[in-house]
Amino acid sequence: MSDTVESAVIVAIDGPAGTGKSSTSKAVAAALGLRYLDTGAQYRAITWWMIANGVDTADPAAIATAAGKPVIVSGTDPAAPTIAVDGEDVSAPIRTQEVSAKVSAVSAVPEVRSRITALQRSIAAEARGGIVVEGRDIGTTVLPDAHLKVFLTASPEARAARRTAELAGADLAATREALIKRDAADSSRKTSPLAKADDAVEVDTTELTLTQVVARVTELVEQRRTALR
Ligand code: DC
Repeated sequence: MSDTVESAVIVAIDGPAGTGKSSTSKAVAAALGLRYLDTGAQYRAITWWMIANGVDTADPAAIATAAGKPVIVSGTDPAAPTIAVDGEDVSAPIRTQEVSAKVSAVSAVPEVRSRITALQRSIAAEARGGIVVEGRDIGTTVLPDAHLKVFLTASPEARAARRTAELAGADLAATREALIKRDAADSSRKTSPLAKADDAVEVDTTELTLTQVVARVTELVEQRRTALR
């Protein structure tokens, strides 16, 4: 029995942008032999498709009508995660500033959320070896029965500094403003906002290195697996 439970551990990692969610989730999944799903990439992919197909991202009705059209496929190998829309690799174009600026509006539309949430649940259910799923509403809405829920936080200054370092040529003050704006939109939307689940473990990463955060979360997953045995 222990093998079955151990191999199917489901981990939800939520938090705002720039807290180290992606780096942490990938590293923990790789260390423990789990699959990895970046749900932000899925929302970015559907946003990219809306822009590429001339859908007005300021028009929720137009987004709702088109929400079922793009075929989004996520590759869940933590060493090389992939994201494709209608067969096209969109890993690079989903990271542009235009997509970042529009993704909150697109992901707030209920038809988008229900479609992407269903996709996320089916990917998690099929991940026989267990999975780390990162996002904003994973512990609260997508996978409320996850074996472990982690909520990562960090000060706005630390988050902006990390994002600026990731994006070549980015301006610190502008990045900080954009992050704060996106968090406010993601936290205040009506349908499954960014929120900490009551049973999530909060980890403040402001003063921690990535190695320390990965060690802490890996330890939490291992403790949970032991408790499940
Ligand atoms: O993790 P990220 O910054 O790539 O996410 C991009 C956007 O996608 C984020 O601003 C809000 C949205 N998102 C969401 O609404 N729900 C999720 N589970 C993940 C991301």
